[in-house]
Amino acid sequence: MIISVVGARPQFVKAAVVSKALKDYGIEEWIVHTGQHYDDAMSGAIIRELGIENVKAQFACGTGTHAVQTAKMMIEFEQFLMQLERPPKFVLVFGDTNSTLAAALVAAKLHIPVVHVEAGLRSFNRSMPEEVNRVVVDHLSSLLFCSSEEGVGQLGKEGIVEGVFNVGDVMLDAFQYFSKSARREEGLGNSFVPKESFGLATIHRPSNTDNDKQLRRIVENFEALKLPVLWPLHPRLKDRIKSLTIPANVLISGPLSYLQMLDALHRCSFVVTDSGGLQKEAYWARKKCVTIRQETEWTETLAGNWNSLVDLEKESLSDFVSVQPTTEWELLYGDGCAARKIAETLSKYVA
Ligand code: UD1
Repeated sequence: MIISVVGARPQFVKAAVVSKALKDYGIEEWIVHTGQHYDDAMSGAIIRELGIENVKAQFACGTGTHAVQTAKMMIEFEQFLMQLERPPKFVLVFGDTNSTLAAALVAAKLHIPVVHVEAGLRSFNRSMPEEVNRVVVDHLSSLLFCSSEEGVGQLGKEGIVEGVFNVGDVMLDAFQYFSKSARREEGLGNSFVPKESFGLATIHRPSNTDNDKQLRRIVENFEALKLPVLWPLHPRLKDRIKSLTIPANVLISGPLSYLQMLDALHRCSFVVTDSGGLQKEAYWARKKCVTIRQETEWTETLAGNWNSLVDLEKESLSDFVSVQPTTEWELLYGDGCAARKIAETLSKYVA
């Protein structure tokens, strides 16, 4: 048996495709949900929508400072593992959230091998909590599955060469698999999605949301685009948004489900985001993406201007959204079979 640990919204999406592949390979998997994300729209609704069935435990470790949140998760997860009759063969973690870090630390200290999906990514910006998490988790992991050769190369530079596999990105598997149903189910209740040309925006990084000046700048830049901007809000913005005047062209909503998000993505004209996942999804949907960050882990998307980084202190969004890509689109981050490759590799070790 292996245990996968999830907690934040994008991890449910990744787990959905990996769990299915593990099942296909006859590997018993239990999912543990740390409760990092706890609003139904961020957690339960997505788990139900994607048909994830094997959640065996759910903690309540949302909110709090990084130390409080991570420590609570570690205590709960250690207790959970200690009461099992037999330890799992592996603890599998996704990406770079506090849930990823907590689970990897606990497993490593109990001598349970850690499997890291989405290994080897770096922003080289240690002020991002995710950068700290991913560096630590990579160095604790026994099997590391990367989304591209970049990741493999980076791990090599840090002396991690064993148990490293480039399998492609599990989010591409999810994008391809779930786009079919997202596009089939006409509208998906997205009645607020504009009929005319619109931009799709998401903002959730503390560097953008927790700085009043920067958040105001973002909203002013949305207004200057002079066409509808659909902006589903991350809960982090729930309170902050009240102090802002939302321009008439900006359409705000609560968090969208994964299928609703894919539907909006396929229908929009461009994407503005600070999310790692959405930068890739925009690329796969062949949409121009503008990223409100100073660096990206997904550097391959920058080639040919498919994705542009913008610094709103010096530049404006409108100068970037209209910049058309200059290179032919080609599939990045694997072939959509990452989950199967992970399951196939794990099946050899579990046996
Ligand atoms: C977390 C991850 C980030 C990931 C993102 C995906 C870390 C350090 N960050 O960021 O890497 O890209 O998830 O969405 O792990 N909140 C709610 N309801 C919820 C969840 C959160 O109200 O269901 C509020 C809480 O006040 C919480 C705040 O949002 O304190 C931030 O949530 P948190 O889980 O700490 O980080 P995210 O910004 O969601």
